[in-house]
Amino acid sequence: MFHKLIPLSFLLLLFASCSNNTSLPKEGEPVLFAEHIAPIIHANCSKCHNSQGAAPFQLITYKDVASKSKLVAYVTSNRIMPPWPADPEYTHFANETYLTNEQISLLNRWVNEGCLPGDTASLETPTILEKKWQSSEPDLIVRMQKPIRVPGNNTDLFMVVKIPFELPKDTFIRAIEFVPGNKRLVHHVNAHIIQFEPSKKSNLFDGNFLVNQDQTKSTTIHKELNLLNDDGSYAPMTPSVCNYLPGAQFSFYPKEIGGYKIGRKNAFYLNDMHFGPSAVDEIDSSYFKIYFGSEPPKRPVSEFQIGTLGLVPVEPKLEVKANEVKTFHITFPVPQDISILTLVPHMHLIGKSFWAYAIKPSGDTIRLIRINNWDFRWQYFYQPKTLLKIPRGSVIYVEGVYDNRAENPNNPFSPPRVIAERNGSMKTTDEMFQLIVTYIPWKKGDEAISME
Ligand code: HEC
Repeated sequence: MFHKLIPLSFLLLLFASCSNNTSLPKEGEPVLFAEHIAPIIHANCSKCHNSQGAAPFQLITYKDVASKSKLVAYVTSNRIMPPWPADPEYTHFANETYLTNEQISLLNRWVNEGCLPGDTASLETPTILEKKWQSSEPDLIVRMQKPIRVPGNNTDLFMVVKIPFELPKDTFIRAIEFVPGNKRLVHHVNAHIIQFEPSKKSNLFDGNFLVNQDQTKSTTIHKELNLLNDDGSYAPMTPSVCNYLPGAQFSFYPKEIGGYKIGRKNAFYLNDMHFGPSAVDEIDSSYFKIYFGSEPPKRPVSEFQIGTLGLVPVEPKLEVKANEVKTFHITFPVPQDISILTLVPHMHLIGKSFWAYAIKPSGDTIRLIRINNWDFRWQYFYQPKTLLKIPRGSVIYVEGVYDNRAENPNNPFSPPRVIAERNGSMKTTDEMFQLIVTYIPWKKGDEAISME
């Protein structure tokens, strides 16, 4: 018995020290930027706080951080930054971005001791660091035919966009990354690829490249965008090749997972490209980066969606009366053994908390994700650290709480009024309650595949 305990505690120690790889000053020595603080900032802040990122200012160098030191201490101590809604006491995810209590006190100590620089000459320059943080060079960049104009009228804008592109030959694709042009405005994108048989599509680039969802009859959208074959029939479509939500960061799946084969004539189809409200006219020039693969995809990725617009409904019907706090559920029996790649919880503005877990046929619980303070602005694609098996016959339970009281600062209406799910409306001021799961059929050994 005892010999089993020793290696276990040793492992736990190892785990504790790598889960926050922070170097601490020696007893009696001060906290220094270059030695102790820069690694924390570079690992948890700079991916957004750089010259290209979604954040409004840079946090990379000693000067960047020292000049905002009080604010940095404040936002980290109050866990406003880095934004990481998932509760780390419940489950951990690959590439998670949150600070340990130890890291937060180190930051505070550094500020209280007068922000000492340490050996800043040994740090890499922002230019070198930013190169490292960028995704790799793609094999192909596919741009929209024209930039999109977002009018400054303070309302959400929902576009359906077509982005045609041709390739010289049939091509294997390993991954597709969406790069938002205007990071503050692009709210979400769900991209599909329509694959035309070359002989059936003579005019790939004709037709409108976008239509406004609210101003067009849904029955004519496909014609207006010229998405049909020459003879009026539909071409096959590969759904959800790429998704984007605020705060999402692109990463590759492990090598043997995912990928597509596409032909010579294709079009990205963005059935709901959503821009948040803006007070001034703005322009967006988002684009796709495509990474080619060298062989046919071995394990294609599938997706299911439960709750709003999903395989099983929200119960009871998603409707929250004015001044009410209400809890809703989604219950989904898993029909086959699956390995989960990604969990995407989704709610809108008055979402308060989100909790998902699975109960195995044996009665054991598999924790999925818990978000105690839902924040509409930070909706990530959460990837378990290793592929997560959910055996057939398990039941996924999701619980969502919505707060439609005036005290909720995120309530879009004052005074509050009834907020509901309306015909799958995607308007931010209506509500949604969804869990989107990407997965592959389970295979022996999957639990050992790392998503980091
Ligand atoms: C996922 C992207 C992201 C990460 C990671 C991130 N930030 Fe931010 N940060 C933002 C954005 C965007 C804003 C602009 C305000 C907002 O939208 O909340 C911001 C705002 C701030 C502000 C200004 C707050 C204010 O009230 O003016 C500070 C300070 C800050 N971040 C510090 C940090 C620190 C320190 C870290 C790391 C420990 C960090 N951020 C990590 C995206 C990020």
